[in-house]
Amino acid sequence: MPGARLIILGRQGAGKGTQCVRLSRHFVVPHISTGDMLRSAVRERTPLGIVAGEIMDAGGLVDDETMVGIVKERLAKPDAMSRGYILDGFPRTVGQAEALAGITEDLPIHVVIDLDVPREIVVDRISSRRVCQDCGTNYTSSGDDPSPWICDVCGGDVTQRGDDTPEAVNRRLDLYESQTAPLIEFYGGRGQLAVVNGVGHPDHVFKRLTDVVESRR
Ligand code: AP5
Repeated sequence: MPGARLIILGRQGAGKGTQCVRLSRHFVVPHISTGDMLRSAVRERTPLGIVAGEIMDAGGLVDDETMVGIVKERLAKPDAMSRGYILDGFPRTVGQAEALAGITEDLPIHVVIDLDVPREIVVDRISSRRVCQDCGTNYTSSGDDPSPWICDVCGGDVTQRGDDTPEAVNRRLDLYESQTAPLIEFYGGRGQLAVVNGVGHPDHVFKRLTDVVESRR
């Protein structure tokens, strides 16, 4: 039976985006990535995008009120209401998690997964990540990359994300420890948390994730 309401937590570069795309196809539910929503606002130069772009490039967090408003509106759409969703990148603070608990009171989350990858491994993954500016496909730099680098999927430009610089990555990871890691205790205390090892071949990680979701929904 398709459908599930999931939250995927994890450090930056843990593979949340990579796995959420696959989980979304597998469970036939929308993948709701707050990072993708913000990047799209930046590309379209909306008022939100202009403010958010600077915060993201510096490795900071957009304020809770703005993020809760965006997610509340998205979760009220018919696809999310009827089929469920995978939340990627939200919540990221205890304030966001408390607001989400209110929003989902009638249709509660089935499981919150912490995709666990140590900091030294995610730093390696992020430093070699390159992304298509148009379709968001991820690539891995070998150090000897084509120039210009053209996306195999859509022909867009493949570049390094503005927030994947060493300074911004360190700031994002520090903010993860202070602002997002407390959610592990928050959801653990509510009996909603499952920790999944995110190290290993992506196919193996995917199997671990689907096993957990199947056992909880
Ligand atoms: P967001 O887009 O959510 O970025 P993030 O959390 O920093 O996560 P990443 O996209 O860096 O990592 P990922 O876990 O998705 O890893 P990926 O699959 O790409 O947010 C961006 C910014 O937006 C935030 O910093 C903030 O400013 C703002 N924002 C967003 N949500 C917000 C909120 N709720 N509140 C406030 N601000 C918010 O994988 C990484 C790399 O590893 C890839 O190259 C991939 O190919 C590779 N890889 C994946 N899996 C494996 C594996 N198993 N083995 C080896 N390599 C792998």
